[in-house]
Amino acid sequence: MPERIGDSFQEQTKYSINGIPSGAMHGPQPEMYKSYPGSQRAALPNPVIRPGASLWDILAARRSHRKFADRDLSLDDLSLLLWSFNGITARAGKYDFRTAPSAGALYPVETYVVANSVAGLDAGAWHHNIPNWELELVRGGFQGSNLSYACLNQKMCETAPAVFVWTGVVQRCKWKYLERGYRYIYLDCGHAGAHLHLAAEALGLGCCMIGAFFDDEVNAIIGADGEEETALYIAAVGAKA
Ligand SMILES: Cc1cc2nc3c(=O)[nH]c(=O)nc-3n(C[C@H](O)[C@H](O)[C@H](O)COP(=O)(O)O)c2cc1C
Repeated sequence: MPERIGDSFQEQTKYSINGIPSGAMHGPQPEMYKSYPGSQRAALPNPVIRPGASLWDILAARRSHRKFADRDLSLDDLSLLLWSFNGITARAGKYDFRTAPSAGALYPVETYVVANSVAGLDAGAWHHNIPNWELELVRGGFQGSNLSYACLNQKMCETAPAVFVWTGVVQRCKWKYLERGYRYIYLDCGHAGAHLHLAAEALGLGCCMIGAFFDDEVNAIIGADGEEETALYIAAVGAKA
């Protein structure tokens, strides 16, 4: 039987006791942060942690929610949701450590928010600029219908007040881990998704993760080229219906 791409990926990215591929960290380290100079910007409020249910209660309560109430998401909640996985919580040397873990602290995952109805924020696709704690507009205007189409007609992308789209900037991780880096990019992104899901539950909001999407169409909405940077994972968030 011919070897399938997934099987050969798994096989060829194994670490073996007989040797680990060499050639890592040649050339300058890629930029750790992406930014869109000159684009429209929206400041995010400082994330303020609120008292709430215990982590154990949140874990027990979490479910996927695909129907949302007709209510805007507040900018305070959006900021706190972003903080749950992108918040910088420690600094050491050149490293900014975040709320969610990352292989080698390389943080190859970028975050975009497709804002459908966020109070005080124009509808559009926004990039999260972490060091400035602000949003940068990458595509103005209501993108919910485009995103719904790109996600195999999953209507929640249109009805949720906010949809998070994560991408991987591949070279940021491959620089150190070569082809195995792909595994770590996916794992990093899974951590981000889990943090967001639990944070949404902690705020009493509904959330549903989305892995079923047309890659090229999602990339087009956020302006990713699909090679150096490519869509990985999506999550719809809003008040539960
Ligand atoms: C990687 C991944 C991809 C998913 N993709 C979708 C999706 O495209 N559409 C959807 O409605 N739910 C999606 N889900 C949600 C799952 O269907 C859901 O987590 C599962 O049915 C278990 O239900 P629960 O989350 O309520 O416990 C996805 C979940 C994960 C972890």
